Amino acid sequence: MRLADKAVVVTGAAHGIGRAYAERLAADGAKVALLDIDAKRNEEIADGICKKGGQAMALATDVRDFAKFKSAVDRAAQAFGKLTGIVNNAGMLNVVPITRCKFEDIPDAEWDESFRLNTKSAWYGCKAAVPHLRANKGGSIVNIGSSTIFRGVPTRAHYVAAKSALIGFNRTIARELGDDNIRVNLVCPGSTLSEENPSPDTVKMREDVIKTRALKRLEVPTDLVGTIVFLQSDDSAFITGQTFLVDGGSAFH
Ligand SMILES: NC(=O)c1ccc[n+]([C@@H]2O[C@H](COP(=O)([O-])OP(=O)(O)OC[C@H]3O[C@@H](n4cnc5c(N)ncnc54)[C@H](O)[C@@H]3O)[C@@H](O)[C@H]2O)c1
Repeated sequence: MRLADKAVVVTGAAHGIGRAYAERLAADGAKVALLDIDAKRNEEIADGICKKGGQAMALATDVRDFAKFKSAVDRAAQAFGKLTGIVNNAGMLNVVPITRCKFEDIPDAEWDESFRLNTKSAWYGCKAAVPHLRANKGGSIVNIGSSTIFRGVPTRAHYVAAKSALIGFNRTIARELGDDNIRVNLVCPGSTLSEENPSPDTVKMREDVIKTRALKRLEVPTDLVGTIVFLQSDDSAFITGQTFLVDGGSAFH
């Protein structure tokens, strides 16, 4: 199997796109630690992976709290005997919703929370994972941005700003970690139907983006998993500091 020698942490793995990442990484042979604030659902998803023959463990954590995040990553590395990668996927969207309004009206606390959950948590994840990746003599960090960075989407300035910051962060730490053979890349999903029980309005909102795409259909979580597997595999061993836009050709960069 392609990822048989890999051990990967996925944050925000209990729902939506993160769940799809965890399930596919495990299906391709990786040992996967699922980290999520929704402890019950996280256990259920990890159990489901194990029942299908995969190797998975659920660890409840809040990625906004460095001590808790680090402790969960340490436990995963200890249980698996090593860590080869992390996917910092937890962020705002459905479970932690975004207030959609003009930039002047964004609540002050929500601006800060957007940077805390979408940006600072990625920094925490990198700090927690890097000692283990160094011990492994290399590894792969994937942070998750958004195609909104390249399109500019009205009513979401705090979310787009927080995700945009990850481009510069990634490029900088890719250079800092190159000598350790640790790669750092950013994956930017397009508007993805990740809601588990979407309302008709949500489906319409996701469908409205279709006309902007070269590939004219809905984006679903499984559209993103191949890129994550590639970046966690040795096939991407010479790729770092890059931004991958996986949105069916809506934006180009
Ligand atoms: N769905 C889209 O259209 C889309 C587009 C671009 C980018 N993204 C990004 O992709 C990622 C996943 O999106 P999604 O649609 O699956 O979102 P989602 O809201 O459905 O899932 C987010 C997951 O993160 C977990 N989480 C939330 N806060 C947490 C915390 N403090 N600590 C630990 N876990 C926490 C949630 O429990 C959930 O499992 C997010 O970073 C999102 O911003 C999504």
